[in-house]
Amino acid sequence: MEKYLPKYVPFFTLLALSGLLFLLWNITSLESWNCQTASTFYQLQNSIQSVLKTSEFLLPVEFNYSFCAHLGQEPTAEEAREESYLLKSIAWPEPLVLGLPLRQSSDPAQSYYIIEDPGDLQVGGQLIVKVQMHNFLGQPKKHGGDFLVARLHTPELAAGVAGQVHDHNNGNYTVFFPLLWAGVAQVELTMIHSSEAVMVLRRLRAEQSDRVFFKSLFRSRYLSETTLCNLCLPHKQQPLCNYTDPQTGEPWFCYKPKMLDCDTRINHSKGGYKKHLLTVYESQFFQSGVNIKIPIHSAGVDNVTVQPAKVQTKGMHLEFTPSGYYYQGSWRPLSGVVMRQFNGSSVITQCLRGKMVYMYGDSTVRQWYEYLTSHVPEKVQCECSLRQLKYRYLFVVQEFKEFNFHSPKNVGPYMAVESNHNILLRYHCHGPPIRFTTVSSAEMHYISNELDGLRGGLDTVVLISIWSHFSTFPVQVYIRRLRHIRRAVIRLLNREPATLVLIRTANLQKLDPESSLFNSDWFSQQLDRVLRAMFKGLNVQLVDAWEMTLAHHHPHQLHPPPEIISNMVNFILSHICPVRRKRRRG
Ligand SMILES: *[C@@H]1O[C@H](CO)[C@@H](O)[C@H](O)[C@H]1NC(C)=O
Ligand SMILES: *[C@@H]1O[C@H](CO)[C@@H](O)[C@H](O)[C@H]1NC(C)=O
Ligand SMILES: *[C@@H]1O[C@H](CO)[C@@H](O)[C@H](O)[C@H]1NC(C)=O
Ligand SMILES: *[C@@H]1O[C@H](CO)[C@@H](O)[C@H](O)[C@H]1NC(C)=O
Ligand SMILES: *[C@@H]1O[C@H](CO)[C@@H](O)[C@H](O)[C@H]1NC(C)=O
Ligand SMILES: *[C@@H]1O[C@H](CO)[C@@H](O)[C@H](O)[C@H]1NC(C)=O
Ligand SMILES: *[C@@H]1O[C@H](CO)[C@@H](O)[C@H](O)[C@H]1NC(C)=O
Repeated sequence: MEKYLPKYVPFFTLLALSGLLFLLWNITSLESWNCQTASTFYQLQNSIQSVLKTSEFLLPVEFNYSFCAHLGQEPTAEEAREESYLLKSIAWPEPLVLGLPLRQSSDPAQSYYIIEDPGDLQVGGQLIVKVQMHNFLGQPKKHGGDFLVARLHTPELAAGVAGQVHDHNNGNYTVFFPLLWAGVAQVELTMIHSSEAVMVLRRLRAEQSDRVFFKSLFRSRYLSETTLCNLCLPHKQQPLCNYTDPQTGEPWFCYKPKMLDCDTRINHSKGGYKKHLLTVYESQFFQSGVNIKIPIHSAGVDNVTVQPAKVQTKGMHLEFTPSGYYYQGSWRPLSGVVMRQFNGSSVITQCLRGKMVYMYGDSTVRQWYEYLTSHVPEKVQCECSLRQLKYRYLFVVQEFKEFNFHSPKNVGPYMAVESNHNILLRYHCHGPPIRFTTVSSAEMHYISNELDGLRGGLDTVVLISIWSHFSTFPVQVYIRRLRHIRRAVIRLLNREPATLVLIRTANLQKLDPESSLFNSDWFSQQLDRVLRAMFKGLNVQLVDAWEMTLAHHHPHQLHPPPEIISNMVNFILSHICPVRRKRRRG
């Protein structure tokens, strides 16, 4: 016995050591996931790289995701018809020839516009601008599909309005601007992406809809595991946990942890952004300062002088009627509501007296919550979990002071109460896919289910914003989500027709070569058009964030600056507290 011992000592030592090493490896690999709080894109990119090295099992698998869109409940015949109509309405022109070299792709620096015979321009009329796109060789382009946006503005008046771009599919474009104020107005035209870049974005959307990926933490006692999650996952050897929502049928899956059950999921968060999405050829079309968000200049003058209206312009045919415009920094809607300025805390509080304002969605609706809570005086703000709230609310609403349930920053849910005026403000994020850092799986609520839990009525205001986290998925995924929300809105308005519902549209944002692949304005605009079409004709107001960010002088940002937020909030408050119409008779 003794003589065998020395022989086994190194063996056991090695075994113990390797066991320890293995355990350590697992602990560090799990920890590197847990402390993931990086919020910016770049921090994330870096951390993902290091994480992926150690957690190979979390790597998304290469496969064709285009079938994702068809997971979940089958649409009815009518829904399928609507879907195909919507997809047709956002169809993007394709170039006649694919695989053109960079030098033959659109070059904003060599493209130009011409203001069409301005003649006698006056308020109430329109301005027409002709655009001719050229390639890097200076030759005119022969096909359409470039993503252009336009704005007409007068800096001295802090006035601005969005233009509408019409693609002739031959390299020429026409832009229409309504003339809404007198003065010298300047044209601003921007190529966001070349048609060649849009083709790449289309490919990514169809083939790489898992380019943003998600993960969940599973935990039970001392065991914890993290697995990959998404709207759909390829069946590898690993079985799946199916978190499909029973009420809506919205699909969501995670790989089943090896040692834990599916019902031990505690956390959801964004896993990261895939890298190396583009070929060398494709990446040429995404160059900052060359072909992403580059101004196109005029071949002649870039401004016109607009005279005050002299003749009757009512009934004049305009190609494009925007939803509003800025004048002296204030948004002026062109229909639906008379804009009021709520420029002080007490004015806001007066307007919100007795109201319950429910905000659902992404961080762009959270901005309104933040704006309102920082403007409502004597605020009593709590950050709390909805579950805990529901019963507490019943008992302690009168002496409701301050709650702090330590919701993750920026994620919520949040709630603020101003008890003197009986105001309740709530914010809750939308359900997956959501790229927030960490959301408790108990807080993963779909907006439609939340709406079904609202009584509604004259005192209820519902604000919804859902777009940004869908930019990487096929449009069908977004259509399906909006369909569920629309049904719930219709049910709510049927219960209580006096409920005020406002939906925020997408907005433009800052783009660079990397963020373009995930968050391009082109993706956003496609979703935005679908949203507008799907809520048309319902008693729902749109907050036109697209035009409000396009018409404004401020550079585009995912989270628009306070000047724009205050205009949005004034617009919303103008709907909550409309100007009393003067009675015509008596
Ligand atoms: C370490 O992680 C691997 C991969 O997930 C897993 O199979 C293994 O059971 C873990 N081992 C321990 C000791 O946690
Ligand atoms: C992915 O699948 C869809 C339909 O299943 C098909 O039309 C498409 O060509 C496929 N794409 C690739 C890159 O395999
Ligand atoms: C585009 O516009 C220019 C200038 O108006 C015109 O000369 C040219 O013929 C147009 N191109 C096509 C293909 O129509
Ligand atoms: C997931 O569950 C839903 C509803 O429970 C079911 O309809 C669907 O087929 C399931 N999907 C998979 C891939 O198991
Ligand atoms: C308008 O354009 C003309 C000609 O390019 C230029 O001389 C003038 O300074 C411009 N006016 C303004 C207000 O920019
Ligand atoms: C707020 O707006 C009202 C009416 O537009 C104006 O009379 C008042 O001076 C403004 N107050 C502040 C603080 O700007
Ligand atoms: C999510 O997981 C992290 C890491 O374990 C933990 O610190 C955090 O409390 C969890 N968040 C929630 C809301 O459960």
